[in-house]
Amino acid sequence: MKNSVRAAILGMGMSVPEKVLTNFDLEKMVETSDKWITERTGIKERRILRDGENITEHAIKAAKEALEKANISPEELNLIICATVTPEYIIPSMAVLVQDGLGAKNAGAFDLSATCSGFIYGLSTAKSFVESNPESKVLVIGAEALSRKTNWQDRTICVLLGDGAGAAVVGKSPDPETSRIIDFTIGADGAYWQLLTLKGGGTCYPPFDERLPKEEYYIKMKGREVFKVATRMMEKIAFELLERNGFTTEDVDLLVPHQANLRIIEYLRERLKLPKEKVYVNIQKYGNTSAASIPLALYEAEKEGRLKRGDLVLLVAFGGGFTFGGMLLRW
Ligand code: ACO
Repeated sequence: MKNSVRAAILGMGMSVPEKVLTNFDLEKMVETSDKWITERTGIKERRILRDGENITEHAIKAAKEALEKANISPEELNLIICATVTPEYIIPSMAVLVQDGLGAKNAGAFDLSATCSGFIYGLSTAKSFVESNPESKVLVIGAEALSRKTNWQDRTICVLLGDGAGAAVVGKSPDPETSRIIDFTIGADGAYWQLLTLKGGGTCYPPFDERLPKEEYYIKMKGREVFKVATRMMEKIAFELLERNGFTTEDVDLLVPHQANLRIIEYLRERLKLPKEKVYVNIQKYGNTSAASIPLALYEAEKEGRLKRGDLVLLVAFGGGFTFGGMLLRW
């Protein structure tokens, strides 16, 4: 191994709001049905913040659990990265609120905006940071309050999204032969930006700018077009990462994809010729939680005994922008 310092995930945590919104609840809000949502997306329910509840509380809770599992104190953290497109404020960032909430007085902190690929972008940054600063510890969080940016009258989007937070502590692997982040790829194609937007509230259209229709203050998506690019890109990333590291799809022990749509996951599974038991799915419980999706899935995969030390894990994500990312790791 050329570089003896290899980064690894040392511990994970998660936290989601208690409030469950089912497909049957949505039937009472918009013209939709449990049958349509289940067949087209695989989603049965999602978690939604209550009034007055905020997503940073969940980010902090997830972070505390990850630190505990990694046996690391908040003071040992050097960097906190929050992947989110739904921070509580523009200033300050979610990351500094987490830093304060944890008492991580020796850590720098910043938010990272890369939609659903955000957690992989964050882990990639953490890997590079740790491998060039061998004693450093980085906390990566994916946390989203998408319900606060959802138009509850728009059935094309409100059935898809949910809230939640997941966290991972990244540091030097104690045993790089069996546990390490092997490789990652991150990318973007801004030419597609119009397919998934939240235009209102930025500096082009400050809040309540009357030039912009009210629905532009919420997330809007041209789902069918996004679907086509998502399937193509996720497949490309998966094969590229495997090939350049000398693996085939048969070597993969678990694929943990971004949970946006069960049909996208199924497409990817078929292209990679993976049996169902090698693909982790929890979209039925949480819907699409953007940057929180991969950490929620990784966390639950481990909790359910689907991951064991040394397993080859493939992460693949895709999101608005477009952004995309993939990661190969030994668990
Ligand atoms: N309930 C009932 N009918 C609906 C609903 C609904 N909730 N939403 C749309 N429909 C209707 C449409 O109006 C359309 O009717 P029509 O045929 O009479 O025009 C019909 O259902 C089919 O609509 P499509 O949009 O073609 O449905 P599709 O099968 O493409 O599924 C979906 C839509 C689920 C959005 C899918 O396209 C998708 O998952 N896209 C990708 C999402 C994604 O990966 N996003 C990236 C990350 S998201 C992020 O970054 C925050």
